[in-house]
Amino acid sequence: MQIQCAILFSGNGSNMQNLIESLHNQTFTHSHTHKECSLHIALTLCNNPNAYGITRTKNLHIPCVVLPHRDYDSREDFDKQMIATLRSYKIEYVILAGFMRILTPLFTNTFRTINIHPSFLPEHKGANAIKDSFYASQSYGGVSVHWVNEELDGGEIILQEKLENIPNESLEGFESRIHALEYILYPKAILKALHLLPQESSPHTSKGCK
Ligand code: GRF
Repeated sequence: MQIQCAILFSGNGSNMQNLIESLHNQTFTHSHTHKECSLHIALTLCNNPNAYGITRTKNLHIPCVVLPHRDYDSREDFDKQMIATLRSYKIEYVILAGFMRILTPLFTNTFRTINIHPSFLPEHKGANAIKDSFYASQSYGGVSVHWVNEELDGGEIILQEKLENIPNESLEGFESRIHALEYILYPKAILKALHLLPQESSPHTSKGCK
């Protein structure tokens, strides 16, 4: 059995690359059926024609469909086109990796979708989570992986981890520790969400790239 996944991104694409290197075409055991199961990243999809991540997909030899959201009159029209594209690849799960578009219920009711957010949710939802965590009164930031529903950064948590502040650390230092944690947590969380257990020889954890 093979699980067909797609990754959606908008920019740098380092999480997308990390997920492909960690999970694509790896074989696992399904924890309920005990059957062998491989995870296939059949497609990537990007809404920004200038995203650096597109170059990464070429180097990784994974198909990338570029759909500029500005070509569509409404969010619904854009989501309809994404849904049609993803269906044509028989996608079962959608993985967001820095995808900077709000999805309509049309989309979130069609695909089981997973997102990564660079804060300890529900704290610091929104686009500036790293900065907001850094300047907040709490002594920690974090990374959260969650199911996507119609509420922005609001779906059920799959896995999350706190990252303690280091006194006198710069924002850049904090940000790079957040990303390093993302590369470890995201592959793990996806396996948990899909009920997949690593096999002995499966390099399921990140090599901490980028
Ligand atoms: C990550 O921090 C992710 O948590 C957030 O957007 C950023 C994407 O970075 N949703 P990259 O494009 O994967 O490098």
